[in-house]
Amino acid sequence: MESKKIIITGGLGFLGYSLLKKFQSKNNILVIDNLSSNVHKIEEIKNYKSCELINLDITDNKINKVIKSYNPDYIIHTAAQTSVINSINQPEKNNKINIDGTRNIIESVKELSDCFFMLISSGGAVYGTPNYLPVDENHILDPISPYGISKMEAEKITLEHLKDTKYKYSIIRPSNIYGAHQKEANVIPKFISLMKKNKTVSIYGDGNSTRDYVFIDDIVEIINKICEKKTEGIFNVSSNEEVKIIEIFNKLKSELDYKKNPKYISKVDGEIMNIYLDNSKILNLIRNFKFTNIGNGLKKTLSD
Ligand SMILES: NC(=O)c1ccc[n+]([C@@H]2O[C@H](COP(=O)([O-])OP(=O)(O)OC[C@H]3O[C@@H](n4cnc5c(N)ncnc54)[C@H](O)[C@@H]3O)[C@@H](O)[C@H]2O)c1
Repeated sequence: MESKKIIITGGLGFLGYSLLKKFQSKNNILVIDNLSSNVHKIEEIKNYKSCELINLDITDNKINKVIKSYNPDYIIHTAAQTSVINSINQPEKNNKINIDGTRNIIESVKELSDCFFMLISSGGAVYGTPNYLPVDENHILDPISPYGISKMEAEKITLEHLKDTKYKYSIIRPSNIYGAHQKEANVIPKFISLMKKNKTVSIYGDGNSTRDYVFIDDIVEIINKICEKKTEGIFNVSSNEEVKIIEIFNKLKSELDYKKNPKYISKVDGEIMNIYLDNSKILNLIRNFKFTNIGNGLKKTLSD
């Protein structure tokens, strides 16, 4: 994309900041973030002359005025309460951010003359326990956690407000995103951090549960391509590579020359044993796209 005005909500986050780095050289960017994490990036943002940062909560009524006066060509909505555990412990707070916050932004979109809206939803969390694998976009939505329910509601709000209007939209359902500089709540950075400190790594269950992953550079490139073409629709974004958690452990173990064995602890109730997403819809749209395989992605994560 070039010469566009882009709002990135949650632009200090793992995905949001990676998008900002991709787009900043040829576009103008406004980051809306309440600084609830990654505050160290505030100084880094100052190096990007085309970027502005506003410290604002997406649930704040002022958002409407801010969005209207910036008048963006694109809004990429990544800001969210992202922890499943926090969503269970504080469901009202989770819903306020993920549901009311999304509504707040979309209502502002409808006051613009033109805008492409992209919601970053969730892959695994909205589908719940799969009826079949790999899970495609037509699979029933049956989320288990308040986080998953709130992402499903955010999708519904997007469709209710924008489908069949002059505003184009896209809903992205990523699998587990990974890459360098990700917060430690996620499994790969957590394993890396523990191994680097030579501490014991705990694995829930027997290590055979499976997930699929998407490398940060891949999802950033796919978002770029969808935005460029202003393609409407709902898309899984995943490598479609089903990986056991013990394989992640073993690959990192060998890369980091870590000697300890994992400690197996009881699986969390309600945790899905196996899930991975069908990515054929996005590959039909972006032909010849090659997803980074987990081995190469982990090497890049460690070297960056
Ligand atoms: N990381 C993954 O594996 C993954 C997988 C599927 C979906 N997602 C979704 O992708 C999006 C980005 O995830 P991430 O990993 O970059 O998360 P992150 O936690 O790194 O970033 C979220 C950002 O949003 C900001 N934020 C949170 N609440 C806010 C609020 N009320 N107002 C304004 N800003 C607020 C935070 O300060 C942070 O900078 C989220 O919507 C998440 O649900 C992430």
